[in-house]
Amino acid sequence: MILKRLRHATTENHAALECQLPLLDPNLSREDYHEFVSRFYGYYAPLETQLLALPWWDEMGFDYNERYKTPKLERDLLALGDTPDMLARMPRCHNLPEIFTLSQLLGCLYVIEGSTLGGQIITRHLRSSLGITLETGCSFFNGYGDITMMQWQAFGSTLTSLAERTCSDEEIIATANQTFKTLESWLFPTSQKQPTEL
Ligand code: HEM
Repeated sequence: MILKRLRHATTENHAALECQLPLLDPNLSREDYHEFVSRFYGYYAPLETQLLALPWWDEMGFDYNERYKTPKLERDLLALGDTPDMLARMPRCHNLPEIFTLSQLLGCLYVIEGSTLGGQIITRHLRSSLGITLETGCSFFNGYGDITMMQWQAFGSTLTSLAERTCSDEEIIATANQTFKTLESWLFPTSQKQPTEL
């Protein structure tokens, strides 16, 4: 039930992000793609550092380490020509979703785990349009490869049972939307009209 509610309540923010991201654009250049990978890195690296430091992983029975996405972004940036020194100097997002409760963590995870689904389409497009493969710069968008749907379903089960047992649906939904909005304002700073809505 929570998954259905989340999908419905975040549709607008998903669509807003999807239509601004030019990742499926036939005219996307390698440079444009590289720039977007850098921006995703600037958001995911500090976000995942924050997430991994949270105390609820054992209680959740969920191993986020195996889903850690920052190393994939690093690998892609290096494959695209950056150096470790350049990665260390890349700007990081400071306006991240607020995560003080387990419900808020679940809302944030919904967005970052869900993004692997669209990543499958993006990966196919990058291979055919720019010739970029898993080894040459798209391991982040490739997500969990062939087992992406299985990983999504496993996350969905965890989310559903935790939401039923302990959490507040409203708080989960609010943080999912905040995650979409903070990512959008980081990726597209000039398109944001109302920063106070975050
Ligand atoms: C060009 C960019 C994107 C495309 C084409 C895209 C496309 C998709 C597609 C096809 C699905 C599966 C829908 C379904 O099975 O019903 C999906 C699901 C999802 N995407 Fe995206 N997506 C994009 C970007 C993103 C980004 C950047 C995020 C967040 C960081 C995101 C978050 C999600 C979430 C949370 C879901 C799960 C929805 C649900 O079933 O509850 N997407 N996306």
